[in-house]
Amino acid sequence: IRQLVKQRRPRGFPPGPSPIPVIGNIMSLATEPHVFMKKQSEIHGQIFSLDLGGYSAVVLNGYDAIRECLYHQGDVFSDRPSLPLFMKMTKMGGLLNAKFGNGWIEHRQLASNSFRYFGSFQKPLDQKILEECMFFVDAIDEHKGKPFNPKHLVTNAVSNITNLIMFGERFTYDNCDFQHMIEIFSENVELAVSGWAFLYNAFPWIEYLPFGKHQKLFRNAAKVYNFLEQIIKRFSEGRVCNFPRHYIDDYLNKLDKSAGDLGTPYSRENLIYSVGELIIAGTETTTNTLRWAMLYMALYPNIQEKVHKELDSVLGSGQSPSLADKKRMPYVEAVLHEVLRFCNIVPLGIFRATTQDTLVSGYNIPKGTMVITNLYSVHFDEKYWCDPGTFSPHRFLDSNGNFVRREAFLPFSLGKRHCLGEHLARMEMFLFFTTMLQRFHLQFPPGTVPSLTPKLGMTLQPLPYSICAVRRQQ
Ligand code: HEM
Repeated sequence: IRQLVKQRRPRGFPPGPSPIPVIGNIMSLATEPHVFMKKQSEIHGQIFSLDLGGYSAVVLNGYDAIRECLYHQGDVFSDRPSLPLFMKMTKMGGLLNAKFGNGWIEHRQLASNSFRYFGSFQKPLDQKILEECMFFVDAIDEHKGKPFNPKHLVTNAVSNITNLIMFGERFTYDNCDFQHMIEIFSENVELAVSGWAFLYNAFPWIEYLPFGKHQKLFRNAAKVYNFLEQIIKRFSEGRVCNFPRHYIDDYLNKLDKSAGDLGTPYSRENLIYSVGELIIAGTETTTNTLRWAMLYMALYPNIQEKVHKELDSVLGSGQSPSLADKKRMPYVEAVLHEVLRFCNIVPLGIFRATTQDTLVSGYNIPKGTMVITNLYSVHFDEKYWCDPGTFSPHRFLDSNGNFVRREAFLPFSLGKRHCLGEHLARMEMFLFFTTMLQRFHLQFPPGTVPSLTPKLGMTLQPLPYSICAVRRQQ
């Protein structure tokens, strides 16, 4: 915590809402913090600060402020804050939460090489994703058009793509141990931004209180790491040096080669953290996007009909979608982009920190300041989006129906620490979505309309809902 800016509003720091003694602004973050922050930016400006109970954080709102910091001052805004919770969870090692420096560079490089190499080992990755899509739609078919909650099925199918890269294998949809691990891991993604987590960051001594949601977080993390340790052991059996079969082998080879090098960032511990981070970062986000996409298709039958029309005209009858079809499906692309914009899967990004003292829009931001990137405020930025509160795929199409990229679209964030899995996620979303909609018509059980209010956490997901996937006549 010493590395965080502990002083309350240092000189020249951005202004912000008045804090309550001791706990600062923590209470204001209890419900929809991204919405609260956008509203505050209308009062205090695009760059403002919050007192999180003894340490200060800067909040960046709107496309201009986020681009200014994350892109134009890329090196400065690329650290992660040394929050007590993160220190306890991953000791600021691994990949996603690693401090900006050599350890992070090495881990990011290794993961990105694995995506490229193991993704296309034996077969191109899109072919492997398509194989999983078939398991997925067959499993949906088993419900025979009756209502079901798609959450587990989507999670299993999506996590199998990262499993292929990490372990070289997919897991069957009845693997309860793996499912349980994912379940408690995603519970932690939710707890990581709960009031208790903020309190723990401000007052780490509450670790010794026998109650509180932070205790649950610690228990879950211990179980997850234990599971990952076992699974890593199992999949590294039979490893042959210089012939890696998957990410685990590749990492262990690097670890062996760096034996005796005191400065090496590779360690068994960092392997567990990185595997966990890649699995959860890859699964939670893509799963939530697809679950929202299914929900909105059932909610707007006219949009779903246009998707069906495009699929039928591009694919004809019986031909499965492939990545090559993406260019010819601007409407599908527009729908998926609008889901990412409107649903804000990672509304506050992943907390950043500054690597050195800096000046932005006349404000002084000292080294080590925690920085929150309000990505939701970018997607609802009135300067760039007309009527942002309306779900409308058409905003991503020109008058000829061609897909158009939009600048203020940052679901994967920006700059040096932007999402490592963007390419993979885009492939998965396109192939899962098109394969599913080619075969099914999605509708809510008669007389029901699920809530559109998201469940809060680091990611936003729909509350559990039931849907009917009725086979289409083609
Ligand atoms: C980071 C979004 C899918 C791996 C991030 C960040 C966002 C994000 C907003 C924060 C970047 C920052 O610090 O500003 C998403 C969304 C996804 C998705 C919306 C799907 C729709 C994936 C997938 C993987 C992945 C499939 C890998 C399997 C990561 C990693 C980081 C990250 C490793 C941390 C990067 C670093 O610290 O250098 N993602 N992500 N993500 N994502 Fe994703």
